[in-house]
Amino acid sequence: MPENIMMRKMLDDDIGEVSLPPGYILTRLGLNDANDLSSLYNAAFGFDFQTPQWTIKEMLNNPEVKAVYGIKCGGKLVATAAIRVVPKLYGDTPELHWVASHPDYRGQGLGKAIVLHTLHEMKQMGFKDVLLITQPERLPAIKLYLSLGFVPEVKNDEEKQLWDEIHKKLGN
Ligand SMILES: CC(C)(COP(=O)(O)OP(=O)(O)OC[C@H]1O[C@@H](n2cnc3c(N)ncnc32)[C@H](O)[C@@H]1OP(=O)(O)O)[C@@H](O)C(=O)NCCC(=O)NCCS
Repeated sequence: MPENIMMRKMLDDDIGEVSLPPGYILTRLGLNDANDLSSLYNAAFGFDFQTPQWTIKEMLNNPEVKAVYGIKCGGKLVATAAIRVVPKLYGDTPELHWVASHPDYRGQGLGKAIVLHTLHEMKQMGFKDVLLITQPERLPAIKLYLSLGFVPEVKNDEEKQLWDEIHKKLGN
């Protein structure tokens, strides 16, 4: 993937309510979820590096990752998002990290629910704002983030042009 782009949001009083379809539950994931989380990443992103071992090292057992959340339905993990804190890169601002929902379960509000839940948890932890890194081609994700109040970070002409193209594609 070529460029990374960044978005930010204040964690104010108006984050929005989490709503799940019946039968779905929100939970915090642990080491026992490594295989399921790896399968979900593979299904959602189609990369080949997100093995169970990678998932443990980079996510479930990584001191920078403060929490990994999931939505389960009948025991199956169908959506996820995480909180990563890297002071060297982003100071006190946490990163909304590796957001995904399973392709068979999209369009039901699970992406929105897992992001909102993660934002509420960040606020509970005392964080004042949040950032995320994504790529211009991830239009469904960008549309979701914009709808939840994330604002593009535009630091130069190149980024402005990227965002102009994204808004055009989204019909904004
Ligand atoms: C982005 C992603 C998590 C959305 O998951 P989802 O479960 O389908 O999301 P929701 O059903 O909650 O949709 C919420 C909003 O996202 C946007 N959205 C979701 N799918 C979309 C699509 N195919 N096209 C355009 N917008 C879309 C819409 O704004 C939608 O709100 P609406 O239904 O009121 O129009 C999912 O598409 C995904 O996992 N993508 C691949 C991985 C990825 O790109 N992750 C983000 C990395 S930064």
